[in-house]
Amino acid sequence: MRKHRVCLARGDGIGPEITDAVLDILREAGALVEFEPLELGERAYHAGYSAGIPDTAWEAISACGVLLKGPITTPQGGGYKSVNVTLRKALGLYSNVRPCTALHPCVPSQHPGMDVVIVRENEEDTYGGIEHRQTGEVVQCLKLVSRPGCERVIRYAFEYARRNGRRKVSCLTKDNIMKLTDGLFHSVFREIAREYPELEAEHRIIDIGAARLATRPREFDVIVTLNLYGDILSDIAAELAGSIGIAASANVGGTLAMFEAVHGSAPDIAGRNVANPSGLLLAALMMLEHLGEQGMAASIHNAWLRTLEDGLHTADLMNEATSKRCVGTREFAHAVADRLGQMPQTLKPRTVNETDSPRLPTCAAQPSIAPASSTQKCCVGIDVFLEWDAPGRDAAQLAPRLQAAAGASLRLALITNRGVRVWPEGHAQTLRTDHWRCRFLAQEGHCDAAALLALLQRVQAVGLEPIKTENLYTFNGERGYSAGQGE
Ligand code: NAI
Repeated sequence: MRKHRVCLARGDGIGPEITDAVLDILREAGALVEFEPLELGERAYHAGYSAGIPDTAWEAISACGVLLKGPITTPQGGGYKSVNVTLRKALGLYSNVRPCTALHPCVPSQHPGMDVVIVRENEEDTYGGIEHRQTGEVVQCLKLVSRPGCERVIRYAFEYARRNGRRKVSCLTKDNIMKLTDGLFHSVFREIAREYPELEAEHRIIDIGAARLATRPREFDVIVTLNLYGDILSDIAAELAGSIGIAASANVGGTLAMFEAVHGSAPDIAGRNVANPSGLLLAALMMLEHLGEQGMAASIHNAWLRTLEDGLHTADLMNEATSKRCVGTREFAHAVADRLGQMPQTLKPRTVNETDSPRLPTCAAQPSIAPASSTQKCCVGIDVFLEWDAPGRDAAQLAPRLQAAAGASLRLALITNRGVRVWPEGHAQTLRTDHWRCRFLAQEGHCDAAALLALLQRVQAVGLEPIKTENLYTFNGERGYSAGQGE
């Protein structure tokens, strides 16, 4: 029988020991997988690869198409980027699928019936890692959200729900505040939901949505959300379901996929044979399903459930009610291997039909990119950000200098400080930092690049320091920038 070729990175911290445990189980089960080992993480950093990924690893992953990855430590400081984030973004792994299922009563859970799948956008949002210190007092992080990025993860969530017999997809955003970024995610969700009329689609604001997930997870089925919200929400959901130690994730893109545990490298318990290998094991089972080996995945899954039912628990799952013996990482793996072929008695077993297709959709439809020619883009002004720190920090002192610099084609419309209007009119209580956003609008309704460059020169000529600019555009007549207060 032909074996599937899969890249394997054992990872750092507890990575090697939980990987060995998982490989033992796969070997005993006879899984048709041949692994190609890769060195990612600490060793690669120390070998001089600041991304933690040697050049040869990129080629190997592209050739295999599938990577099983142990957790990797991100060294603090020193300009090191997270290997995990780099892999997800560079390989185009746009969907991060994180099932959170309670295993009550074997693993006590606050919500015994919890069965939620979180699909987290995996490439965009603040995870672009584009940050700047702009003034003595103010730093910024760019939140980038694209229409194609939204389209493919949202369509993926609907495809996942359809393929897995789920009934509902919930979109969580904060579009009451971030009307353009989160607003785009929400509006693309509405568009794509229409293609799946058999599925219920709902939107909730992330704060109340997260609170409801924590208190009433039965209201949710599949959740799709932006990168940062999904990161936080899925850790909380994993703990609510039982333990982060048993949570797995699949990072899926158009042609490649990476499977890993949700938890990190747990340096506090590394090398002690106490770590729970279940998160990585469940990730390996998602990988087997992805490779079309549903029967093998189900058989190992059932042996794993039976082990938990028999009360053989690693230290993190020990509880008075259902634990019979505390076992180490290796012993837990042996216990699962010993139970291959057995079914759970109380927990719901994993079943498969010969005709079942893989649970993870591989390639959702390509995002539609509107041709640039169909969009009328018009520059209507500019936001000039200044560092300015005069005594009193009074915008009424700043405004006349900017009005003098505005020239004939532009007018000063607004000054804000951290987004709060301080001119015209403001409130004495508003904290004023050294970072000012000054909005100029075109007198004639539109302006060109030459007018904006000339404005910047005049701003400098009146002794002010622009630290950044954002052009203000309309798209087909619709405002492409957030309105200031009172605008
Ligand atoms: P962590 O998930 O490694 O550990 C948090 C807590 O959970 C610790 O008390 C740990 O002992 C426990 N824990 C985690 N996995 C466990 C397991 N399998 N069995 C039993 N207990 C377990 O999170 P932390 O400490 O914030 O991060 C450590 C390192 O891992 C950092 O360098 C971080 O950047 C990295 N990390 C890597 C990830 C990945 O490779 N995908 C994901 C998250 C963090």
